[in-house]
Amino acid sequence: MTKKILITGGAGFIGSHVVRRFVTEYPNYTIVNLDLLTYAGNLENLKDIEQQPNYVFEHGDIADIDFVTSLFEKYNFDGVIHLAAESHVDRSITDPFSFVRTNVFGTVTLLNVAKNTWKNDFSGKRFYHISTDEVYGSLGNEGYFVETTPYDPQSPYSAAKASSDHFVRAYHNTYGMPVVVSNCSNNYGPNHFPEKLIPLCINNIKNKKPLPIYGKGDNIRDWLYVIDHARAIDVIFHNAENGETYNIGGNNEWTNLDLVKYLCAVMDKKLGRAEGESAQLITFVTDRAGHDKRYAIDSSKLMQKLGWKPSVTFEQGLELTVDWYLANEEWLQNVVSGDYEKYYMTMYK
Ligand code: NAD
Ligand code: DAU
Repeated sequence: MTKKILITGGAGFIGSHVVRRFVTEYPNYTIVNLDLLTYAGNLENLKDIEQQPNYVFEHGDIADIDFVTSLFEKYNFDGVIHLAAESHVDRSITDPFSFVRTNVFGTVTLLNVAKNTWKNDFSGKRFYHISTDEVYGSLGNEGYFVETTPYDPQSPYSAAKASSDHFVRAYHNTYGMPVVVSNCSNNYGPNHFPEKLIPLCINNIKNKKPLPIYGKGDNIRDWLYVIDHARAIDVIFHNAENGETYNIGGNNEWTNLDLVKYLCAVMDKKLGRAEGESAQLITFVTDRAGHDKRYAIDSSKLMQKLGWKPSVTFEQGLELTVDWYLANEEWLQNVVSGDYEKYYMTMYK
C-alpha cells in the first residue's frame, strides 16, 4: 500500500532512526522529513538514506502555520509521526518560552492544519504524537508509570510536552481526529546529541574531561536503545487503535552514578585504559533544579497487545553505542564545535 507520511523532527536523535526505519522498511511509502535544523537537528544523521527515492527533506518550522499548510497541500499526507520538539530539560529551565513555542504551539499548528486539510474526513488518516514518560512526574522508590497514571509534569520541558499531549487528545475528543500517543522512557544510542548524560559522558571520557553528576547521582532513569524505540513506533503507528496511548520502556533502571561507572568500565576496556581510570573523572556538581527522582515505565500493554519487546539488552546496546561514537569521531567533532562549547561553558561553569 502506498502512503505519504510526514515525520517531524527527523533530523534529530530519535527522529533520524524513525526516518531510516520507515524509508528502508516501507519502500512504497513516501517519507517527508520536516525539520527546522535547530542545534539538535543534523542531516549527517541521515547521510546513508538521503538518496533513497522514497525520502524527501523539507526545511521548515512546525510552528509556521502558512508553511505547514502549504506542505499539507503539496503532499496530501496520510499520516503524521510527530517528534519535533525542544527536548533537553536543562535548556527548558533557562529558556521555557522556546519549549512553549515548539512543543505546544508547534503541535497545535500541526493538529489544526491536519484537521483543516483533511476536512474532517479522517478515513485512512493517523496523527501519531511521540511523547515522554516525564509527563507523569516523578516516582518514589516503588511503582511504575502506566498509561492511566495521572499527569504531573515537574519541569518546563515536561509541562510543555504534557500540554501538547492534552491538545492531541482534545483534537481526538472534539473533532474525532484519529490520534495515537506514546510515552517513552530515556533513549540512548547512536546520534544522541552530547548535551544528554550518556553521550556527554562518552565524549568526556574519551577526552579525559570531568564527568558531571548532578546532586548525589542517585536519580533513576529507565534506559531504552533508540532502535527499539523506533521499532515500537513502527508497531504502534501501524497497529494501535485510534485514541490509544502506549507506554514504551526498557525495564532497565539505573541510578545515574551506577550508569556512569558502568560506562567508564566499558570504555576503559575499549580504550585500553587501566581498570578504574575513567571513573576518577566523576565529579559531583550542583543538582538540576526540580530534578525528578525516578522514572520507570510499565510497557506491558504494548508487549501484550502489540507484541513488542526490546531486541537488545542494555549491555549490548551500550556497547553498540560506545562503538558507534568511537567510530564516528567526525560526527562528534562537528556537533561539539561552535555553539556547543558556549552552551557547555554556561551549563558547567
Ligand atoms: P532532539 O532534540 O534530538 O531532536 C529534535 C528535532 O526536532 C531536531 O532535529 C530539531 O531540529 C527539530 N525541531 C526542533 N524544533 C523544531 C521546529 N520548530 N520545527 C521543526 N523541527 C524542529 O530530540 P529527541 O531526543 O530525538 O526527541 C524526539 C522526540 O521524542 C521529542 O518529542 C521528545 O520529547 C521525545 N522523547 C525523547 C526521549 C529521549 O530520551 N530523547 C524520550 C521520550 C520521548
Ligand atoms: O525520560 C525521557 C526523557 O529523557 C526525554 O523526554 C528527554 O527528552 C530526554 O532528554 C531525557 O531527559 P533526562 O533529563 O532524563 O535526560 P538527561 O540525559 O538530560 O539526564 C539523565 C539523568 O542524568 C538525569 O537524572 C540528569 C542527570 N545528568 C544529566 C546531565 C546532562 C547528570 O547527572 N549530569 C549531566 O551532565
